[in-house]
Amino acid sequence: MKGLILAGGKGTRLYPLTFTSAKQLIPVANKPVLFRVIEAIREAGVGEIGIVVGDTAEEIRQAVGLGNRWGVDITYIHQDAPLGLAHAVKISRDFLGDDRFVMFLGDNVIQGGISPLIAQFAQSDWNSQIVLTRVQHPERYGVAELSDDGRIVQLVEKPKNPPSDLALVGIYMFDHHVFEAVENIQPSWRGELEITDAIQWLVTAGYRVYPYVHQGWWIDTGKMEDLLEANGLVLEEMQHVVDGYVDRDSQVGHHVTIERGAEIINSVVRGPAAIGRNTRLVNSYVGPYTSIYHEVTITNSEIERSIVLENSRISDIPARIQDSLIGRWVVIERSPMKPKAHKLMLGDYSQVGILNGAA
Ligand code: DAU
Repeated sequence: MKGLILAGGKGTRLYPLTFTSAKQLIPVANKPVLFRVIEAIREAGVGEIGIVVGDTAEEIRQAVGLGNRWGVDITYIHQDAPLGLAHAVKISRDFLGDDRFVMFLGDNVIQGGISPLIAQFAQSDWNSQIVLTRVQHPERYGVAELSDDGRIVQLVEKPKNPPSDLALVGIYMFDHHVFEAVENIQPSWRGELEITDAIQWLVTAGYRVYPYVHQGWWIDTGKMEDLLEANGLVLEEMQHVVDGYVDRDSQVGHHVTIERGAEIINSVVRGPAAIGRNTRLVNSYVGPYTSIYHEVTITNSEIERSIVLENSRISDIPARIQDSLIGRWVVIERSPMKPKAHKLMLGDYSQVGILNGAA
């Protein structure tokens, strides 16, 4: 059994962060989503993993390397343009050969417990297995309609009128028959070769495709709100450790991780929260559901339910920052210079919410 991770695509819904970096490398609870995906595949006993990469190939290669850190072998497969999930399968044929494989979308975060399912598929004679879960907005996903006895009736990609609330989670298992399917489908209205259409093709052709309904949580981290939600859920469930320094004037609550080299000086951290390597909090408050990544400095400020990426600096901000996703090397500070005004330098597609009446 092999693993295939899809980490191409453009990430347009996460601009401006994804102008310069891969969405799959945004950390959730201080660990990039892509690393979580690699770990989930390895947990299922799969050690040969292909990663489909596009424009952000170099950054992904730098971060992941050849897989030594996880004890797996990584092969990179270059996709010239994001022509669809089924297109990604098509170009991975040389790597996959005749092996059974699990395909994982590199931006999906799923609650544990899926690895036994993958390991079980490796031993079965099924042609494909898909993972489904109930969602509130099925029209945003691939949707499955099942019969009363649990078999697949039809699969549709982002339907206007969804036949059910069962969405296709970004984990799929296949044998080599999927190559026949991807050769026989046509691009969809959005110009992509859809994996949903390829699986529908397998069903129609009479191959054995089985659904599994996942009961835990699952998040496709395509948008900021999804990332914040996933961050909160992982922070709630993970094991926390304090390896950094906390001075006597600080209060650090339960379910807080303080990584090596971090310093908490005269500050309050309420869990669940994670403070990254070499990050410094001084006279500040970090509230629940917040992850501050590496080498960040927060001084005389308050932040809650947010994600801050590496090397950013927040100082002397009078109002609490909340529900925010702050990129790398960002500086947010109180300006002593006249005129008294908000002075901004924001990348294209940035979003700023300014407090009514803020000083
Ligand atoms: O997240 C689950 C959903 O993922 C499913 O319910 C849908 O059926 C499926 O089509 C897919 O929908 P999305 O529109 O959310 O897919 P997205 O374009 O976000 O791509 C998912 C991942 O695959 C992402 O990490 C980027 C990567 N990708 C995407 C495309 C289109 C590639 O590597 N190559 C591609 O050509």
